[in-house]
Amino acid sequence: MRTETPPTIRLQDYRPSDHLIDRVDLDIRLDPHASRITAVLALRPNPAGTPGAQLVLDGDELGLVGLALDGKALPAEAYAATPAGLTLHAPPQGPFTLTVETVVDPTANTKLMGLYRSSGVYCTQCEADGFRRITYFLDRPDILSVYTTRIEAAREEAPVLLGNGNPVETGDVPGTDRHYAIWQDPHPKPAYLFAIVGGRLGHVGRSFVTSEGREVALGVYVEPGKEARADYALDAVARSMTWDEEVFGRAYDLDVFNVVAVSDFNMGAMENKGLNIFNDKYVLASPETATDADYANIEAIIAHEYFHNWSGNRVTCRDWFQLCLKEGLTVFRDQEFSSDMRSRAVHRIGEVRTLRARQFPEDAGPLAHPVRPKHYAEINNFYTATVYEKGAEIVRMLKTLIGEAAFRNGMDRYFSENDGTAATVEDFLAAFATETGRDLAHFAQWYERPSTPRIAVSGHYDATAKTYRLDFRQTRPGAGADAPPLVIPVALGLIGPDGPLTATNARVRDGVFVLESAEDSLTFENIAAQPVPSLFRDFSAPVRVEMALSDAEQLTLLRHDTDAFNRWESAQRVALRILIEAARSGSETLDGSEGLAAALAAFLDGEALRDPAFAALMLALPSEGEVASEIGANIDPDAIFSARRRLRQALAARLRDQLAVLREQLADPAGAAFSPAAAAAGRRAFRNAALDLIAVADPERGAALAREQIATAATMTDRLAGLATLAQIPGEAREAELAAFAELYADEPLILDKWLAIQAAIAEDDTIARIGRLQRHPAFSMTNPNRVRSLVGVFSLANPTQFNRVDGAGYALVADTVLALDKRNPQIAARLLTAFGSWRQLEPVRRAAAEAALRGIASAGGLSRDVADIAGRSLA
Ligand code: PHE
Ligand code: ZN
Repeated sequence: MRTETPPTIRLQDYRPSDHLIDRVDLDIRLDPHASRITAVLALRPNPAGTPGAQLVLDGDELGLVGLALDGKALPAEAYAATPAGLTLHAPPQGPFTLTVETVVDPTANTKLMGLYRSSGVYCTQCEADGFRRITYFLDRPDILSVYTTRIEAAREEAPVLLGNGNPVETGDVPGTDRHYAIWQDPHPKPAYLFAIVGGRLGHVGRSFVTSEGREVALGVYVEPGKEARADYALDAVARSMTWDEEVFGRAYDLDVFNVVAVSDFNMGAMENKGLNIFNDKYVLASPETATDADYANIEAIIAHEYFHNWSGNRVTCRDWFQLCLKEGLTVFRDQEFSSDMRSRAVHRIGEVRTLRARQFPEDAGPLAHPVRPKHYAEINNFYTATVYEKGAEIVRMLKTLIGEAAFRNGMDRYFSENDGTAATVEDFLAAFATETGRDLAHFAQWYERPSTPRIAVSGHYDATAKTYRLDFRQTRPGAGADAPPLVIPVALGLIGPDGPLTATNARVRDGVFVLESAEDSLTFENIAAQPVPSLFRDFSAPVRVEMALSDAEQLTLLRHDTDAFNRWESAQRVALRILIEAARSGSETLDGSEGLAAALAAFLDGEALRDPAFAALMLALPSEGEVASEIGANIDPDAIFSARRRLRQALAARLRDQLAVLREQLADPAGAAFSPAAAAAGRRAFRNAALDLIAVADPERGAALAREQIATAATMTDRLAGLATLAQIPGEAREAELAAFAELYADEPLILDKWLAIQAAIAEDDTIARIGRLQRHPAFSMTNPNRVRSLVGVFSLANPTQFNRVDGAGYALVADTVLALDKRNPQIAARLLTAFGSWRQLEPVRRAAAEAALRGIASAGGLSRDVADIAGRSLA
């Protein structure tokens, strides 16, 4: 059977629901195979809808076992029920209650949407449209209801029963081995924020008093025995709460806030009201088991989900086209939080690397879409880097344009004017327009079309007039010929041979020039000598900048710029130029590598000890993917890989002795207590970046150092870094250490995920065979999303040479996994398939092989809507 083209849902077709649901009373009796859900819905016609309309409730793979209207069973001719919906032909014209009974099998639910079980724990996932897999409902985000939930389960199987809102009652069911808990959520919410959890769980807790004087019981629930690994997450909750009070004036609004870690989860985490459910990878941490990156991710994702309580829950989205309204804004908020908790410059560089690695390629490929999409076939395919990361950049630009104070006032206005409603991007911008008196219609164009703008800049120095002129030209490739120019904040400064210049121009306010037209120029007066412009400081807009600066000019920025981001960026630009030229020409010589190495050496000499985290980033070359995305067409991943390896060798040869000394100097003092904080993590990051380069210069010495580090490491960061370095050096030692590691952590699936990932990323011809072996290893499982992402996901995203093998074996491996997975978990299958997103930019042989793999998928029978949508758009 061929899947039919899924229907397209369009933003322009939005209309309010014909009915509203004011209250939802749920009684959920948990059972492994037949959980029974009784929903009592208080319905009424929507004054804004069509009078006399049918009531059409959504369903997905549901079975109806009971239906009553105002307490009376409905005759069969009054309704029609299918697994996908329930229609009442002639609902009452006034308020009425509908009692709907459904039975679902949580154990058989492999899609991990709706009610399912993860390692025996009952849990739910309702965003975007999972609630309709629990009961028939108006499953759309503009239907806000007050929920009361009674959860019942066998006490033995599920001693812990959690729901949204506040706990109101618990008790035994007399004469049975069952018990119940009743939860009440006073805040009206859309169904996608509904959640329950039932299971055998351990927990850690503390109390938190909000700025409004509310005492909140915070809890983090995890697999029993892992409570000690939940402390960091619990602390991150409290820090998030304090930060949101201080920075955005937002206080928490319930008596409890719970976080539950589950091991089978499609995404990172979910912001259900008062009951956030997390992928356990983003909760569990201890020095022995978690890396510094894990700690940073946990802190960021705990914050992200908590911040949704205001940006997403109190103010939610009118429809799924507005997804960026909650996601872009909340990513921006979590980025600001992490920047305040850690090093702002280091964090900003990380954000930009993610954007360039994930969003720029998306924008340049067949899956490109506006930050606010105009249509979709499957909403679950729109939880993308564009909606999240570019969405966050738009909020950041808005703040840059209107200034910090006006931004905060606008946010206050947005929250208060839209509290308890389902809002739109227009509502968001209107708050800032009212606050500032500005017309933001032009700025709103950022939401409307895909494409990463290109900003061509040229500088002209007039030695006689002592003026310096910058000419800007913006283009929007792929946005359509009629695309209007964007409003682009350009944070800038000028750097003279000896340091920053005070360059003034009336159009530059607080260091920001606003480019609003296709072309514009800026002239600075009284410039004594040819300067170097420092443009898009702190990455002030998500654009590609084209400016012909020499390496020497770029490296002037590294030496003298006051903007940390551009200091890092300058070295990246030089490295990119070298890599692109080498990849294109295939020549052995790397023109300019000595200059870069010398500049890095001087930088390290002065600054590595002062800011090792920043220095570690300076040592990291642009990724293969970033080079590919800059080249943009006719890409040969092998050529990029070999250019990058040669540049690494050149830099390593020059820096190795210096790195070895710094690595010793930055060692932790013996007996030092573990700290996950940024300073200690930064030292580890530098030491491990140094180790990696030392191993490039001298594999034998590198292997010895790596093995020593694996044996003596006090942290998972160091142990894994040793293993990752060793994994790049073929030989007996590597295989022995990999095997020993697997044995040591046989009972730690989250650690073995990293072991899988390290091996999936090995850039060697044998990796395909290795992955085949790993797929049969007990550490791997096709049913757990984290395992699949660690092995096949990492292979497809972080191993460009092997994924893009000329013989097509890499594509076949991923395509086979997509098809196998689609039967059980379409969301994960579809996400894996997005790895083919840049296929059109490949050189012809690989392009043909990738296309064949994609066509093979597209023509397979019985595809899910998720996979059919990605395959179809990828080939369109
Ligand atoms: N809303 C979640 C988040 O960002 C992501 C998510 C989407 C989780 C869909 C599960 C399902 O924060
Ligand atoms: Zn989110």
